[in-house]
Amino acid sequence: MKKYTSVDDIENLDQILQLAKKIKENPFDYKELGKNKTLGLLFFNPSLRTRLSTQKAAQNLGMECIVMNLNNEGWTLEFEDGAIMNGSASEHIKEAAKVISQYCDLIGIRSFPSLKDKDKDEAEFIISSFVKHSTVPVISLEGSTEHPLQALADALTIEEYKTTKRPKVVLSWAPHPKALPQSVPNSFIKMMKKMDVDFVITHPEGYELNPEITKGVSIEYNQDEAFKNADFIYGKNWSNYNHYGEITNNDPAWTIGSRQMNLTNNAKFMHCLPVRRNVVVTDEILDSDSSIVIPQANNRTYSAQTIITSLLNNLE
Ligand code: CP
Repeated sequence: MKKYTSVDDIENLDQILQLAKKIKENPFDYKELGKNKTLGLLFFNPSLRTRLSTQKAAQNLGMECIVMNLNNEGWTLEFEDGAIMNGSASEHIKEAAKVISQYCDLIGIRSFPSLKDKDKDEAEFIISSFVKHSTVPVISLEGSTEHPLQALADALTIEEYKTTKRPKVVLSWAPHPKALPQSVPNSFIKMMKKMDVDFVITHPEGYELNPEITKGVSIEYNQDEAFKNADFIYGKNWSNYNHYGEITNNDPAWTIGSRQMNLTNNAKFMHCLPVRRNVVVTDEILDSDSSIVIPQANNRTYSAQTIITSLLNNLE
């Protein structure tokens, strides 16, 4: 593995999941691997889990970690080639990425989409610019279109909690007061397509995601129908992809509660967090034994540690 900015960067998921399980059993076994190595974490957006779990992963591997909130602590960056920099941007990505590469052996970047300029967001222009101009491997800490570290933690969680060989996994849209990115569902869909699961997506009509990503996946517009006999329910809001970044539906009937969960095969409830209680999912479900959101978040450390280990093993 040379970079991890998409679930597509995983060549062999079974191998990666085996490594993740091994690392989780003995998190300090690879303490020598990161000795005298530095991980740089650059945030253009807020984070709780990604920031702390990735630092924890680096510590478990014996690495040093440098963290910077680039949106308000660094110079405003210019990303356009050939720009005449007489505006607000003080530093070009060409210099910034090369300079940071001298300080860090791996660079992680969080950069959310604008949800206004679809072409720019789909090009992952910030993370792609770092990949282009850095001289060290880049990890997405959630980009405009994907959250691949989250998806690996999700896959590990399903592996740990499944009680049948081929569980039914349902990704359910749920309401939210703010327009949210499609990154988490996109990476989750890509990951489920790599796993041996019976996978269904349910959302209101009009909330279809990128058809290139959902190609081949069952889409059920009736949420109750989709939940029948499910083993895992993954709740998540996303904003409209076709009317890009808009909220065109906020129907509270889609809030995940006991009405829908009672239709499942005693399903486990998953969510990447942070979650809006009683908007996305009810207190009753989040506070019940069916919720596995806390162990799911714990797996973020082992997901990050697995990817960092794979990248360190491939450093030239
Ligand atoms: N799930 C997730 O990425 O959480 P944070 O936004 O808190 O990092």
